[in-house]
Amino acid sequence: MQRLYRKRIVLGVGGGIAAYKSAELVRRLRDQGADVHVVMTRGGREFITPLTLQALSGHPVHLDLLDPAAEAAMGHIELAKWADLVLIAPATADIMARLAQGVADDLLSTLVLATDAQVALAPAMNQAMWRDAATQANAETLAKRGYHLFGPAAGSQACGDVGPGRMLEADELAQRAADCFQWQALTGKHVLITAGPTQENIDPVRYITNHSSGKMGFALAEAAVEAGAKVTLVTGPVHLPTPDRVNRIDVVSARDMLAACEAAMPCDLLIASAAVADYRPEVVAPQKMKKDPTTGDGLLLQLVRNPDILATIAGRADRPFSVGFAAETEHLLDYAARKLKDKNLDLIVANDVANPTIGFNSEENAITVIDRALQASPFAQTSKSKIARQLVAFIAERLART
Ligand SMILES: Cc1cc2nc3c(=O)[nH]c(=O)nc-3n(C[C@H](O)[C@H](O)[C@H](O)COP(=O)(O)O)c2cc1C
Repeated sequence: MQRLYRKRIVLGVGGGIAAYKSAELVRRLRDQGADVHVVMTRGGREFITPLTLQALSGHPVHLDLLDPAAEAAMGHIELAKWADLVLIAPATADIMARLAQGVADDLLSTLVLATDAQVALAPAMNQAMWRDAATQANAETLAKRGYHLFGPAAGSQACGDVGPGRMLEADELAQRAADCFQWQALTGKHVLITAGPTQENIDPVRYITNHSSGKMGFALAEAAVEAGAKVTLVTGPVHLPTPDRVNRIDVVSARDMLAACEAAMPCDLLIASAAVADYRPEVVAPQKMKKDPTTGDGLLLQLVRNPDILATIAGRADRPFSVGFAAETEHLLDYAARKLKDKNLDLIVANDVANPTIGFNSEENAITVIDRALQASPFAQTSKSKIARQLVAFIAERLART
């Protein structure tokens, strides 16, 4: 299993003698499925050439902060946002001191300040440098701030000394990097997610739809990718950018959505967060409907039932682990539990759309997940992206039990 499948790692290479091991480290990270961009300090370049690391990583190496061409290609902020993990190996005494102080005087230190990603340091230095009170204080400060410290190991050193300060070997560093991602839970799984509303045409200019924004489904797609899944996102008409590494399929009506879901099968997990129209006009008028003086002030639209996407997929012989959403304005938990049973689902996510601070079109959500034993697990109100991560972790844990 590739433990770093699709993970994005910025590898910072400092000016230590152990920089020669970074070449091997790039290979080990890539063996585990990671995409690696290398950033080198000025010191790092004295020990190993950017050309070597470019060839091994498959990307140009990032060297300077104040370089207009590099900024135009993939600037420091972009790189900081791109990363799932910044791993600095070797982390010199100098880099650790600068990071502990929040200094931003080169590309690597600046992007560490700018990133929301996890940061891991593999210290590598002479044993006396490592033991020095300043380095120890810096290591403690950085660890307290949540940086991961990988090593150092003790043993014989390049300078002839014996003691602590050796950089961990590439294999161990790659494994430690993988340990940073608790979410290996969906690695190798194909996850099908539906999102957004559907539109059901009345005539060429009018349609029936609902207030679903697709935000929850898109956040779930992002969280599932982070958890290592291959994600197919079937979405109704929404105004949202496609999350990275997600295979997005745009549809309009409920029947389109069902066809796209069936075409995307087989999958291991279905999360149906789309607000699918239950009914559609029986007949779609071929021309724009005009006001009809013979019908007075009223207009009757004959509606027919749409196919039930969730029940159809959950009823297949090759059914995936099936998770539905129940967006309700009243009797939330009762209706959700009934839907779980009627549609043969594994889990249902109850969503109170009567509350304007959560649900449709809002940035936040609060949900309750109900399982087949009718056990309810509430998730407190927070951003949709955080709820999505919590929910994906919960579902993955239940999926693993099957
Ligand atoms: C031959 C040689 C080997 C060095 N090895 C290390 C080392 O292993 N660890 C370390 O922290 N500094 C080492 N240094 C000192 C760093 O290169 C120096 O502190 C430099 O400013 C680090 O820059 P950087 O951290 O920005 O890459 C070494 C210096 C020389 C000349």
